[in-house]
Amino acid sequence: MHVVHTVAECRHIRALLRGSVGFVPTMGYLHEGHMILVRHARAENDHVAVSIFVNPAQFGPNEDFAAYPRDLNRDLAMLEREGVGFVFNPSPDVVYPKGFETYIVPGAVAEPLEGERRPGHFRGVDTVVAKLFNAVQPARAYFGEKDAQQVRVIKRMVKDLDMPLDVVVVPTVREADGLAMSSRNVYLNQRERAAAVCLINGMRLAQQRWQQGERDADTLRNIVEQTIRAEPLAILDYVSIADSESLKELHGHIEGAALISMAVRIGKTRLIDNMTLE
Ligand code: PAJ
Repeated sequence: MHVVHTVAECRHIRALLRGSVGFVPTMGYLHEGHMILVRHARAENDHVAVSIFVNPAQFGPNEDFAAYPRDLNRDLAMLEREGVGFVFNPSPDVVYPKGFETYIVPGAVAEPLEGERRPGHFRGVDTVVAKLFNAVQPARAYFGEKDAQQVRVIKRMVKDLDMPLDVVVVPTVREADGLAMSSRNVYLNQRERAAAVCLINGMRLAQQRWQQGERDADTLRNIVEQTIRAEPLAILDYVSIADSESLKELHGHIEGAALISMAVRIGKTRLIDNMTLE
């Protein structure tokens, strides 16, 4: 497995590879959710490249950049076991050297939900993902539906900027009780971990009502909100029922598919999750 740290080394290794490269960008502290992306990439491409980079540009000043969990050796061992050939692990000064001043500014799809609560987050995501695409030059890049808005923002960027690759979206991997896997789950203590099932439980209740024919967006939103509010350790940031493509908030009767998404604080951990109703 080649592990490279600079853009020049990355390009050198890339140039030696014949055939298609499937790329999985990550911030490390890998779990089964990341590994599913790797397996999809391996099944559909001649080579798999993974990046591990905790991207300072996508964290706000009061967010957990410094505390974000990191364990490079464990990550590399997991990728080696999975047969990954190529890992790009740049430092912040490689990605943002002195004098760096060009960013990609996403449009309306980045404005609501996470974009509203985390100003500048998707500008940081688009910018780093574009830079990683330029370094790795993949035929396909793999992203998790776990970060539903991120997927939509990145697809929009790839389309708008004519980037020569396909974005492949992979369903969310969950723990046995339904909690979406996330690097941030390690922050949860035992009581908080038990409380964290309120996210999936709220969405499953709304999904049941949807399957029974409920189509009122406000009713469905309330069902999820009440489940979160019933959990004493949970502090609701937002629950959204939105158009599943544009992410515009829905009210009244829903035509077509809707995306339930939410952010909830449990202790000092901010968790996000989502589910598509179709
Ligand atoms: P990170 O949170 O490490 O996630 C890397 C990729 O793994 C993302 O596409 C994310 O959606 C996916 N993923 C995370 N948890 C998942 C789960 N439980 N099931 C399926 N996929 C899951 O997302 C980022 O990093 C960064 O924003 C990045 C795109 C790397 C840019 O810095």
